[in-house]
Amino acid sequence: MEISVVSTHPYHDQKPGTSGLRKQVAHFRKAHYLENFVQCIFDSQPGLRGAELILGGDGRFFNREAIQIILRIALANEIRKVTVGRAGILSTPAVSHLIRKRGAAGGIVLSASHNPGGPGGDFGIKFNVANGGPAPESVTNAIYAASREIQHYRIAQSPHVDIDHVGHTQLGEMEIEIVDPVADYADLMESLFDFDAMRALLQSGRFQMRFDAMHAVTGPYAREILEERLGAPQGTVMRPEPLADFGGRHPDPNLTHARELAELMFGREAPDFGAASDGDGDRNMILGRGFFVSPSDSLAVLAANARLVPAYRDGLRGVARSMPTSQAVDAVAQSLGIPCYETPTGWKFFGNLLDDGRITLCGEESFGTSSDHVREKDGLWAVLFWLNLIAARGESVSEIVRDHWRRFGRHYYSRHDYEEIDSDRAEALMERVRSALPELPGQEFGALRIRAADDFGYTDPVDGSISTGQGLRFLFEDDARLVYRLSGTGTHGATLRVYLERHETRPEQLDQDSQYALAPLIELAEQIADITGCTGKDRPDVVT
Ligand code: G6P
Ligand code: ZN
Repeated sequence: MEISVVSTHPYHDQKPGTSGLRKQVAHFRKAHYLENFVQCIFDSQPGLRGAELILGGDGRFFNREAIQIILRIALANEIRKVTVGRAGILSTPAVSHLIRKRGAAGGIVLSASHNPGGPGGDFGIKFNVANGGPAPESVTNAIYAASREIQHYRIAQSPHVDIDHVGHTQLGEMEIEIVDPVADYADLMESLFDFDAMRALLQSGRFQMRFDAMHAVTGPYAREILEERLGAPQGTVMRPEPLADFGGRHPDPNLTHARELAELMFGREAPDFGAASDGDGDRNMILGRGFFVSPSDSLAVLAANARLVPAYRDGLRGVARSMPTSQAVDAVAQSLGIPCYETPTGWKFFGNLLDDGRITLCGEESFGTSSDHVREKDGLWAVLFWLNLIAARGESVSEIVRDHWRRFGRHYYSRHDYEEIDSDRAEALMERVRSALPELPGQEFGALRIRAADDFGYTDPVDGSISTGQGLRFLFEDDARLVYRLSGTGTHGATLRVYLERHETRPEQLDQDSQYALAPLIELAEQIADITGCTGKDRPDVVT
């Protein structure tokens, strides 16, 4: 097979963000843009040569084209074998599982997660390492460094590969295996949860659920697991077919973008349980009848009830959450007498803790939860965990959460997002807040007294690596917190995220609206940062 060495020039914007390289489709289609980045993965990861690579994506526009290009570059770079999900489909957790199960040297996931798809939408590429998890910063920095120097890439002049049929083919020296994207993952789920109890619940006639796949990758997974293996009625999975443009909507599992599901769950005929996942299947949203479970609470509830699930029957070694995630899980860890780690935002920071056996469960406020069964967050896993809990406890979602609040208190929580701000203005705002950090501790604002304030940094307890500048946080005397952080995943300008949290233990105060319960902190957030003055916005674009 003829290998071409193509001259190219570096692009200077190929620094992977919180979760891979994400750009608009048109940007990815610039001459050599994708090729450069893929070559830089291979150049900076010599361990891939002669090894197996897993490849798949969320089915968005440009997925199939990108797969053909990556196969040709892989062949030219002496990859021994590439395992591809049929039709180019593999969810992020399924890639993580396949890497681990097959002992592959890494994987490439083609997705821009919950960002919209289609010709005018976004595309993305993430590289996962041999433990199945997202590449750590040392790896993404090496890829980025290579991308600033690249002069050539290698590509085979090979024919188009049929990726729509399961089986083995040979492309020159390289083996290609097309696999059923769902089977291994569904088997894994079956090994973790009590499928008999869940099947009995779903077939009891007394319980109804809906899962919104948002025309993204989890449709085929949810159909196989919920409707086939667990026997839920056909139609339990809404919007099940993966579409290149996700039906023109954002595949983002929140109350705005999973509108039909939200209307159903807050309507008169609401089913008992509702859930949704995002573009690439790693996020989850959990709803009860007329009840939204905040992701931070979800993590805490799963941790507190883990022993009810077969895979976690022997208890948890420890838990972890990202810094801006609420401290609800800390309270559970404390009562269980297990460690709770606080990491920077981004799933990759959980990798070492999981590999080292320090934690079993982890999660983030950004609708991500998972365990040591893979090295990614896992949307359907979280949904099945909840279903298993509901079956085991015989209680509704809201009963389970309210009981949790009575035991541990409620961590009122909200995130306010200010989107598409001019990047310089956003940096200026952060700089101003940063310069106020030393002055504010000890000061009082109404009933709120600031105990400490810092620019969050993290030293990984396993390999000692240090990450600085991970969010500006204010800690108050009664465990309330206020955090400012710029998003690392946006593709248009900057997004300011303000995270607000307050702990409430008085039994009669557990059922308030979060925005009301957090009002004094919300006001203080504005006062400290002058968000309106800086951004010209007098309210957040998104409140979760
Ligand atoms: C991706 C990562 C998550 C992270 C999130 C943060 O989804 O996989 O681990 O929590 O990005 O996004 P942000 O926009 O806040 O940087
Ligand atoms: Zn995602």
